[in-house]
Amino acid sequence: MLETNKNRTNGGNQRPVRLDLITEPVYLVQGKRHISSLWKVSAKSRSLALHNMLFTNWFGMSAKTTSKYMEDDSGYGRKSHPSSIVKPQNRMDRLSHAVFKDVLSGPDSAGVCSRFTAGLCERLVSLDISDNWRHMRDFEAFIELHMTPPNTESLWGAHLTRDSSFNKDFWGFNNSLHYFSMRLPRWLIPQTYARRDRMLKAFRQWQFHGRKNNVAPWEEDEYNPQYWGSRLIRKWQKEFLRMDDANENDLASVHLTFSWAANTNVVPSAFWAVLDIFRRPQLLAQLRQRLPVVHSTAELLELFSIAEKKARICADPLLQSIYAETLRLRVHAYALRRFLHDHVDLDGWTIPQDRLCLVSSHPAHMHGAEWNTAEGKHPLSEFWPYRFLVQSRDSAEPCSAPSEATGDDMYDGSSWTFSMQGLDGLWIPFGGGPRACPGRHLAKHHMLITMAAMVMLFDVDAQVDEKALRMNELTYGQGTLHPVGKVPFRIRRRV
Ligand code: HEM
Repeated sequence: MLETNKNRTNGGNQRPVRLDLITEPVYLVQGKRHISSLWKVSAKSRSLALHNMLFTNWFGMSAKTTSKYMEDDSGYGRKSHPSSIVKPQNRMDRLSHAVFKDVLSGPDSAGVCSRFTAGLCERLVSLDISDNWRHMRDFEAFIELHMTPPNTESLWGAHLTRDSSFNKDFWGFNNSLHYFSMRLPRWLIPQTYARRDRMLKAFRQWQFHGRKNNVAPWEEDEYNPQYWGSRLIRKWQKEFLRMDDANENDLASVHLTFSWAANTNVVPSAFWAVLDIFRRPQLLAQLRQRLPVVHSTAELLELFSIAEKKARICADPLLQSIYAETLRLRVHAYALRRFLHDHVDLDGWTIPQDRLCLVSSHPAHMHGAEWNTAEGKHPLSEFWPYRFLVQSRDSAEPCSAPSEATGDDMYDGSSWTFSMQGLDGLWIPFGGGPRACPGRHLAKHHMLITMAAMVMLFDVDAQVDEKALRMNELTYGQGTLHPVGKVPFRIRRRV
């Protein structure tokens, strides 16, 4: 890496570094300023660096179709990069970017959010749990079981999950991905392959179903989003099948990849957030003071079906601070960039053309004087739910820096606001810039709704062994970590 600006003021360990790996050199970009610079130039990058490995090894895509993705150097913009000769129908980066944008943060996203909320609440209110304690073995599995189906159905509809063992297969498969990375053959891990096969088959059936009489189902008036999910995802398959050599098996792999991205981080993140709330009686009491009281399940369903009431809950500063702190502590993700057409300058450091750049969220989340630690009382190694609250003495004034929030005792609930000010390039669970996670708004919505619903509906007593709660680093770099052990708990209904 070439240093071009001798006057820069980087901290010693905040510099980008080049790691000479056996396969190729990797440029590890670190430090708030350099990471922010990388996000700014990311529009020129390709994030498909790992797709080859993921699509082929994990999600069963054919090498022919994977190579189409890898050959695409046209960028994600409306216009192809001038030096690219990729045909318009093979612009996979553009196609993926457009569908992510439309479905996850564009015209489809409000429907996705309301379907998720309705699905989650229906599941939680109909659970066979009374006001007597009931013991269960694994709190993470409980959250998986009740969050994964509504999250998946909000995008692909009940048709996908209704007749398949999607939830069980998904988490069994997810927990065995390292075997696929090791390229273990089918005869050594038959159950894991069988899980993947069943999910791919479910996606193939989802694609075929409803395409009778050559009428595209998404064009019909009677299109039922509850059953089919997002109209735009369904429409997108038409575009995908225009790609040279595309076929329905590979499209099923693309859907499986997308469903993996949609569930693999948000579900364990919600698990940690809810667990951390119930393990702190004072925090739980503060939240209950702030959230509306519901006396019946009907009231809960009504509460979330009224847009303004739901928006008020999602805007709650304390809930938002818990959400941000959970992702800071529990997400260990890599964001990758490759600048295919030119070198880039990162605030005085040059990244050569066509080299792999890597940003790791963990060091960014665990170091830096910019973080609020209440003057060292709450180090970055611990979960501190108030880290992202600032005092708004005068609502007309901009938020003061997060470091002014000083402690639990100071939290009276009324005069605090949620703030991420000063944390650009530091709080990066979703990556950043134009290549940031397109599902981040949904992720935040789904986590806040799950936290609020669990707090309003249930008492949970986690019978936790601290050893079991350590984070399992087996999936370091993939996103949200899981606990090393199971978390037994007891649960009872409040309303
Ligand atoms: C807590 C939850 C989540 C975390 C921590 C997370 C994290 C990430 C990260 C770090 C990336 C790479 C971004 C970059 O390169 O800068 C990413 C990409 C992606 N995420 Fe998320 N994500 C979450 C939830 C979701 C959800 C709910 C969805 C969909 C509903 C989603 C869909 C995607 C997709 C499709 C990509 C690939 C984008 C592309 O290739 O251009 N994510 N996510």
